[in-house]
Amino acid sequence: MYYGGDYNPEQWPEPVWDDDVRLMRAAGVNLVSLGVFAWARIQRAEGEFDFGWLDRVMDKLHAGGIGVNLATATASPPPWASRAYPEILPKDASGATYWPGSRQAYAPTSPVYRRLAAELVTAIAERYASHPAVVMWHVNNEYGCHLHADYSDNAAVAFRAWLRGRYDGIEALNEAWGTTFWSQRYGDFEEIVPPRLAPYSLNPSGLLDFKRFTSDALLDLYRMEKSIIRAAGGVQPVTTNFLGAFEPIDYRSWAPDLDLIADDSYPDPADAESFRAAAFDRDLMRSLKPGVPWVLMEQAPDAVNWRTSNAPKAPGQMAALSVQAVARGADGVMFFQWRQSRSGSEKFHSAMVPHAGTGTRTWKEIVELGRDLASFPRMSADVEAPVALVYDWQNRWAVENSDHPVRFDHLEVVRQWHAAAHRRHVGVDVRHPGDDLSGYAVVIAPQLYLLTDASAANLAAYVAGGGTLLMSAFSDVVDEHDMFPLGGFTTRLADTLGLRVTDFGALPVDGTHDATTVTVSLEGTSLKGRLFAEELDVTDATVLGRFGDGRLRGRPALTSRVSGAGTAYYLATVPDEEGMGALVARILAGAGVRPVVDGLPEHVEAVVRDGHLFLVNHSEEPFTPPSSLGRPIEAGSEAGDVIGAYGWRVFGRAAP
Ligand code: GLA
Repeated sequence: MYYGGDYNPEQWPEPVWDDDVRLMRAAGVNLVSLGVFAWARIQRAEGEFDFGWLDRVMDKLHAGGIGVNLATATASPPPWASRAYPEILPKDASGATYWPGSRQAYAPTSPVYRRLAAELVTAIAERYASHPAVVMWHVNNEYGCHLHADYSDNAAVAFRAWLRGRYDGIEALNEAWGTTFWSQRYGDFEEIVPPRLAPYSLNPSGLLDFKRFTSDALLDLYRMEKSIIRAAGGVQPVTTNFLGAFEPIDYRSWAPDLDLIADDSYPDPADAESFRAAAFDRDLMRSLKPGVPWVLMEQAPDAVNWRTSNAPKAPGQMAALSVQAVARGADGVMFFQWRQSRSGSEKFHSAMVPHAGTGTRTWKEIVELGRDLASFPRMSADVEAPVALVYDWQNRWAVENSDHPVRFDHLEVVRQWHAAAHRRHVGVDVRHPGDDLSGYAVVIAPQLYLLTDASAANLAAYVAGGGTLLMSAFSDVVDEHDMFPLGGFTTRLADTLGLRVTDFGALPVDGTHDATTVTVSLEGTSLKGRLFAEELDVTDATVLGRFGDGRLRGRPALTSRVSGAGTAYYLATVPDEEGMGALVARILAGAGVRPVVDGLPEHVEAVVRDGHLFLVNHSEEPFTPPSSLGRPIEAGSEAGDVIGAYGWRVFGRAAP
């Protein structure tokens, strides 16, 4: 189990480094991410490298038994670089420049930036590839975090090259983008510019390709750095830190290039439900590389600095969120950062060693957590998950394009479905519609608007093979180019679902008032739907629920169809949270999926990893676990002992 955090010794005089190593040992730290923002310290000017200080830090850490997750330091070019080569600076959609003075001011496609970054990584990798302290490589930092997309001339050149690789000639692009519309036809790839500021809405297929390009351009940078590390003889695992379900990057397409997945996670302590969204992110990270434990690379020991109000974590909350990550497949718990900065934008961000010193609650909790994690048994990344929730970045990009029947936050809806299973203590993997789904009892596919023929066939085969699929409104609408297939909507899954959608029936939404809802009556009960009330042409499915009010009163709203050995449900709206809960409970029960442990309160999380049952209490309310769970593995704990506020417990075997 890795334990530690980002270590920025360049911010401190050398005598502090000895104290750092001493305190790291006291806290059980065994890994630090070193040099993430040290480019300007390593390279004072082009061609001038200063590694003396880094040599000394590395040697001190190694002597202290602390491993190094060595950063390639490329996330923030020093000011000398942009002074000498202003063309490395990125631009926004209106052509304004992002200047240096903060961080991440580089155009990922700038040939000069790439050359400078390659020279830096080569120097670092050649010097340290065989240093005994290096156990992992940390490439760049949170790709795309601040700069979600670059629209500079560098990006224009690279975008055109990317499009040339994707389309077999300009006519193929014209066809895919539907450029006969609004006189957008291109005669040559050179006429294409990134989706910069325009008078009105931009071509949606072009926007989608620009998102794909942006994700690929950053991946290309990551690959460049990784190959330099390998060429220099670095054999240690290579990774970069992800940001949960971060919109700009299709992490699924990146996952094969990472030796292990690493995630940064900052749930808001002021939001009593933020642990549920964190659970979704952790399941997403685990699912990106099934079977390989991931690492929680960054979290805050206490408060952050970047929200409007930055609440501290409650006593125990930091450990509860850490154990949640371990329960959901992490083999490392790391923080931003080791020692609190004295100056700079993040001086109010908490750290493992707080500015207020080691007499603090934070430090005590850090030491305690280090001890507890060290006592955990070695576990595989196998987490019990009978349910797959379908989430696909490319679909999210397409579904959130403008000019749709109704605009909504797709990720929020996906997370609500996850939360519905989470509240019921049922494990969920987050999968792509093209993944092998055959091992899951239930697949939930919300708003699968963009669906390729291959993914549609995969979902149909899953149902035919005995699976239970729940699809909901605004699904199977366009192909990978954001184009309607001919023949209407629900064209690929019509047979599996036994219906066609003929009208999307957008419901009014209003930021200041509750969204308009419809009622779906369903065998004596009812649920509320929002965003869509679709008109269905049911050809061969059983109608389980009907709209109880609104324009479609009496028309089908929830259907099921037995298809092959399985069942496909379709819901023509998006339920509110309560409705999702009711529906999920019903479908899980129908598919024979039971909670990990019966009768637990919603704020207690229950997960089985490699046969170990984790219970985590995410609230102030104490909780008594059923004594039938047996004896927890922690020394000194007895069966049935109360789990206090933000407490947790691990049981040696899965619940009966
Ligand atoms: C991100 C970055 C860190 C730091 C933290 C602060 O995760 O990677 O360098 O800025 O945020 O929360």
